[in-house]
Amino acid sequence: MAVPRSEVVNVELIPSNDEISNQGNIAMVTINRPNKLNALNSEVMNSIKEICHWVESEDSVRCVVFTGAKPLAPDEGKRAKPNAFVAGADITEFVEKKSEEIKIKFSNNAVEAIWSLSKPTIAMVDGFALGGGCEVACSCDIRIASERSKFGTPEINLGLIPGYGATQRLMKLLGYGKTMELIMTGEMIGANEAHRIGLVNHVVSTDDLYEFTLNMAKLISSKSSSTLAVAKSTIRAALEVGLEEGIAIEADAFAGLFDTEDKEIGVQAFLNRETPEWKHR
Ligand code: COA
Repeated sequence: MAVPRSEVVNVELIPSNDEISNQGNIAMVTINRPNKLNALNSEVMNSIKEICHWVESEDSVRCVVFTGAKPLAPDEGKRAKPNAFVAGADITEFVEKKSEEIKIKFSNNAVEAIWSLSKPTIAMVDGFALGGGCEVACSCDIRIASERSKFGTPEINLGLIPGYGATQRLMKLLGYGKTMELIMTGEMIGANEAHRIGLVNHVVSTDDLYEFTLNMAKLISSKSSSTLAVAKSTIRAALEVGLEEGIAIEADAFAGLFDTEDKEIGVQAFLNRETPEWKHR
């Protein structure tokens, strides 16, 4: 299956191992509407869904990084647009819309498609991650932000609440108090505050963001892809079930890995002081 092509979302395949070829790729998915701060219009959302479908079917993709396009050089005499991951759903598509249309638009949406990926996902955030942008970031497994990034859920200022899962995913990430504060005030927070409250995993300088993110994607890509998928689904279970049931799910998943070739490969490689050559790269 060919890499889906789209004007508004680019996919770049980056080798996951610099030394050895054929070790798979990192898919760098860039939302590309810089003049609209990468706002999520229908075209972007459809493209992301198509890309997620492709990612899931493409064995060579080990890890997916979602990011936003950098601002273009401004037209003469015009002010430069700010850096953005994604400044939210495209508000122009909300005008005069009623509930029935919005229900259809928001059901089975691209944020859920990202969330449903079985492969590891990282949000690389440089700039505004607001509303739907914060929700795209929260639907990834890991968030890495530049120091100048800003996060928030400003929907309350539009007479709305988040619609791509923030009421639920922020609750799981941050807890009740901070989620209430962010959603009820609509205020933005800086990257360091986002880090302090657990919204982002790492804050790095703008200059280091790409390399730091890519190194983490490469590190994750060096593990067994089938074991990673089991790790992801097992951790996800904790969001759905109580502790006792979750422990039982983990025990089953852990035991199940003992029937896999990659467990034997990993254990033998450790004992022989070698780098594991996973069956499932
Ligand atoms: N939907 C549609 N267009 C958007 C957008 C969005 N969510 N966010 C920004 N844009 C557009 C602006 O309309 C503007 O377009 P124009 O140059 O054609 O007029 C362009 O992106 C640049 O944004 P601008 O507002 O001029 O930049 P700024 O530096 O003054 O402010 C923000 C940056 C992020 C504070 C401001 O754009 C903003 O508040 N955006 C909306 C955030 C939001 O409410 N998101 C939740 C949506 S549900």
